[in-house]
Amino acid sequence: MKIMNRPPSILLIEDDAGIVAALKKQLQTEGYQVALATRGDEGLILAREHPCDVVLTDLRLPGLTGLELIEQLHAAKPKLPIIMMTAFGTTETAIEATKLGAYDYLLKPFDMGELLDLVAKAVASSRLMSEPLEMGATQSAQSAIIGDSRAMQAIYKEIGRVAATSVTVLIRGETGTGKELVARAIYQHSRRADQPFIAVNCAAIPETLLESELFGHERGAFTGAHARRVGRFEQANHGTIFLDEIGDLSLSTQVKLLRVLQEKYIQRVGGNERVPVDVRILTATHRDLESAIREKQFREDLFYRLSGVTITLPPLSQRPEDIPDLVRYFLRRSAAELDQDSPSIQPQAIAFLQNQAWPGNVRELENVVRQGLLLARGYSISLEHVQQASARSHKPVVGADQTIAGYFSDLLARAARGEAEGVHARMFEDMERELYTRAIHLARGNQAKAARWLGVTRTTMREKLTRFGLRPPGEKPGQPG
Ligand SMILES: Nc1ncnc2c1ncn2[C@@H]1O[C@H](COP(=O)(O)OP(=O)(O)OP(=O)(O)O)[C@@H](O)[C@H]1O
Ligand SMILES: [Mg+2]
Repeated sequence: MKIMNRPPSILLIEDDAGIVAALKKQLQTEGYQVALATRGDEGLILAREHPCDVVLTDLRLPGLTGLELIEQLHAAKPKLPIIMMTAFGTTETAIEATKLGAYDYLLKPFDMGELLDLVAKAVASSRLMSEPLEMGATQSAQSAIIGDSRAMQAIYKEIGRVAATSVTVLIRGETGTGKELVARAIYQHSRRADQPFIAVNCAAIPETLLESELFGHERGAFTGAHARRVGRFEQANHGTIFLDEIGDLSLSTQVKLLRVLQEKYIQRVGGNERVPVDVRILTATHRDLESAIREKQFREDLFYRLSGVTITLPPLSQRPEDIPDLVRYFLRRSAAELDQDSPSIQPQAIAFLQNQAWPGNVRELENVVRQGLLLARGYSISLEHVQQASARSHKPVVGADQTIAGYFSDLLARAARGEAEGVHARMFEDMERELYTRAIHLARGNQAKAARWLGVTRTTMREKLTRFGLRPPGEKPGQPG
């Protein structure tokens, strides 16, 4: 069974032929499908009638102005991200636009990289909201929570129980156990499913910017705050906000969040206005919050507010019976990404995978399966393929409790015992994998950004991600750009 990956599509609404030509070319090079409207009213009709992932629109348009367009489009399709392009000096309008429901805005003249980053983010967010997520056994879903073990069935029941309520849910579990998937499932089965779902990774945003990201800021609130900014809470109004890695919040942000939970309004950084917000809050963490509370790193009152209901995901090692289904699901998905038919996998290979410890849980299994598929080059996947893939799988090269010196002595000691060869090449490979893994993780999958940080081209970035099994799901290899 093959899963189709539809290329992401952008509706571009712009009347300036020069800008249209430039944007269209860039977007197509990046692998997007582009539909075009040169009038506001025409854009509105197109957006209503043809599904697209993101709208990119000018502010000044014939037929219907950008603001009218955003208002009407948002009313018709509240989950469709709209990015507005506006000339410098009209930031007030840009703020107005965000209030009316625009996802974000760009000030002209903008840098093409900046535009592409924003479009990629909006597409990801759009897919998160609209790609249906099935639970349990599935043969065809693009996106699913797989696993029929008792432990997972208990999780599905809990999701069903909390989804329809507005209760705050804290999702816990080791890294890679599927916390983000569960958050999406709760949202999709909730009464707010037709409203936005906004995910914020609290660990990925520097502490100094996080409050402004969440609550927005007034002009001049701090150096660099040239214009007012509407925060994610305001954007998520009537919808759901997912605060991921909540255990990483600073104490001062914790106080502000607690106030939002208690009083149901936000205050922008540097402002006094109380903006009422109606937002359902879902949070997740892999941290041990109880010990963070004991160490006074996490507020107990906030913890109780957030954990209206707690859902704790079991580590993969506690449900090995789910592994065969997971393996087949990841094979189908990875094969679809590579435009291949799903290959078969030998029973010994599955048995081997069932016997691993999986400290990185389902994410690690997914990477190993993808690597195994690449190693098999279209043939049936054998025990050797998965063994080799598993040996390469990401274990932090230098863990929190280890030093570089420790890593070198381990590696050399293994070489001395005859258990490792080619130590020099291996060290470079390990370091490189670690660097790319961390960079792409920190950039939340944004390849352009990660490539910029590392000072490598996007092509190199793509090659390395494929090589290390870090290519995000849903992305087709070999796309030009
Ligand atoms: N039960 C599952 N069925 C299918 N895919 C899963 C399942 N659990 C996890 N995954 C996949 O594994 C990867 C990691 O899942 P997710 O991001 O939800 O984990 P997480 O618990 O949020 O991890 P972290 O703490 O590292 O952020 C994703 O690609 C996700 O699609
Ligand atoms: Mg997560």
